[in-house]
Amino acid sequence: CGIVGIVGREAVAGQVIEALRRLEYRGYDSAGIATLEHGRLERRRAEGKLSNLQLKLVQSPLTGAIGIGHTRWATHGRPNETNAHPHATARLAVVHNGIIENFRELKKELETAGARFETETDTEVVAQLVSHLMDQGLGPVAAVEAALPRLRGAFALGFLFSGEEDFLIGARHGAPLAIGFGDGETYLGSDALALAPFTDEITYLDEGDWAILTRDGAEIRDIANQIVARPRQKIVSQAFLVDKGNHRHFMAKEIHEQPEVVGRTLAHYVDLAGGRIALPEALPFDFAKLSRLSITACGTAYYAGLVAKYWFESIARLPVEIDVASETRYREPPLDRDGLTLVISQSGETADTLASLRYAKSQGQHSLAVVNVPTSTIARESSVVMPTLAGPEIGVASTKAFSCQLTVLLCLAIAAGRARGTIDAARERALVDALITVPGLMAESVALEPEIEVLAREIAKARDVLYLGRGTSYPMALEGALKLKEISYIHAEGYAAGELKHGPIALIDENVPVIVIAPHDAIFEKTVSNMQEVAARGGRIVLIGDAKGAADHGLDTLATLTMPAVDPVVAPIVYAVPIQLLAYHTAVFMGKDVDQPRNLAKSVTVE
Ligand code: G6P
Repeated sequence: CGIVGIVGREAVAGQVIEALRRLEYRGYDSAGIATLEHGRLERRRAEGKLSNLQLKLVQSPLTGAIGIGHTRWATHGRPNETNAHPHATARLAVVHNGIIENFRELKKELETAGARFETETDTEVVAQLVSHLMDQGLGPVAAVEAALPRLRGAFALGFLFSGEEDFLIGARHGAPLAIGFGDGETYLGSDALALAPFTDEITYLDEGDWAILTRDGAEIRDIANQIVARPRQKIVSQAFLVDKGNHRHFMAKEIHEQPEVVGRTLAHYVDLAGGRIALPEALPFDFAKLSRLSITACGTAYYAGLVAKYWFESIARLPVEIDVASETRYREPPLDRDGLTLVISQSGETADTLASLRYAKSQGQHSLAVVNVPTSTIARESSVVMPTLAGPEIGVASTKAFSCQLTVLLCLAIAAGRARGTIDAARERALVDALITVPGLMAESVALEPEIEVLAREIAKARDVLYLGRGTSYPMALEGALKLKEISYIHAEGYAAGELKHGPIALIDENVPVIVIAPHDAIFEKTVSNMQEVAARGGRIVLIGDAKGAADHGLDTLATLTMPAVDPVVAPIVYAVPIQLLAYHTAVFMGKDVDQPRNLAKSVTVE
């Protein structure tokens, strides 16, 4: 989704549309705009492309000099006009990216207080909450200030108030927002790209910041409501077809973007109000009729598939066979006619993955592709496509595409569980509730970055690093090792923690850091035993776990990264963040080219 806001000198509707057009690359299927017409809030919204919204504006123009706009990716709530943003009450209009995790709770509270809702969206809850606070006598700024701490999740917001011609408010909490400074005009946008036609003077809000935009500039406050100064940057307009924001590397930007893009992806697969999975496409096969699922992919996408194996088997009781695509394609595995092959690919162009897909089709299999590039060959050739809405990924080492792949795969496993009758509605709701906490938890995990930076200096000294995990943390260990070796060139291996004693334990001494990925789940105790084996041999342990686990294991560690408590089912998605940050900072500290590591390519179209 994209957010735009303008406090302008004359009619802003045209500019808002122009800015929204530059956010089209993020994908959307409805759009809307709100302005103040002689102080009165007016909205125009339309399903489909921006041209539909433009047509509405031709039929009934908006002339206000202050306004907000939005492009929305179908969250369930369909992409119709009622669900399109801005959402509004008589007092204000709001545009929103991301998910408000606690919206059901807030909605109940507001309904009890007499609010009447027009939609089932989480966004309307924000509008109603701020309205309610204003009904109690707060001014617009004070009402937003009071409302923000009540919202949980990862999101960005833009507010326009009835009768307030001179200011807009923007808030950033886990999804990016930029402010642009023009000549007697000030702009709000999801990224600098949106604002490029109007200004090259940009300030990115920091996490937790919110800002009051006037024609003269912006007053920015931090999460503690203190007024703060954030640096202004000059943007070179050609340089940012996709820009790096405040980050040194695309990889850093893409790691930080995950709360937003995972939220966006989730919103595409989850019926928030209903607490259930609602797949965006009809399936040409029935999960209930499958006797097994074959998964194939390469690199990081393959590890996403390995995590998914655990999910499909435990949630949907569906046996999964998985292999790297370069093996699948020549192994010629026997595949059931009318069975299902699932391929996972960021680029949708990887030669081995494509060849495996073609082989599966030649055996009469249905094919389901989880891809990030919707126009890719794999997307075109698969019977059904489930997109990851990560947006363009530039860093060669995959990060946000991976967490979005995991998100889609878990949604699919839940859908399969429902179809196969292995989970009931209550279990599905619990799983969906766990899923919608993910963007917020990822944003919290990003806050571990300063600690990870310090730890990275230790890791940078190592020649070999071991990563261990059990259950879904095992493929995460493999992915952690892959990330580190890809960009820092340190030799790293991922192992199932229980396999340690069958070989890799011979490597352990004080020079080999052992990174243990262990959320406090049902098998945490087993992993602790493996940690003991490491400690007994002088190995230096880095635990990536939660407070409960950290308190329980009683071992000396080189470092403990204390993650927020998570539902174990969704842990891999959240734990992707520290794993990626550790590889990133190690490589940066070592002076490596993290965005374009030697010998690697982003899209591997050769065998
Ligand atoms: C290359 C990239 C990896 C990626 C793999 C699979 O090796 O460097 O980051 O995981 O290809 O690519 P795909 O586009 O199919 O996900």
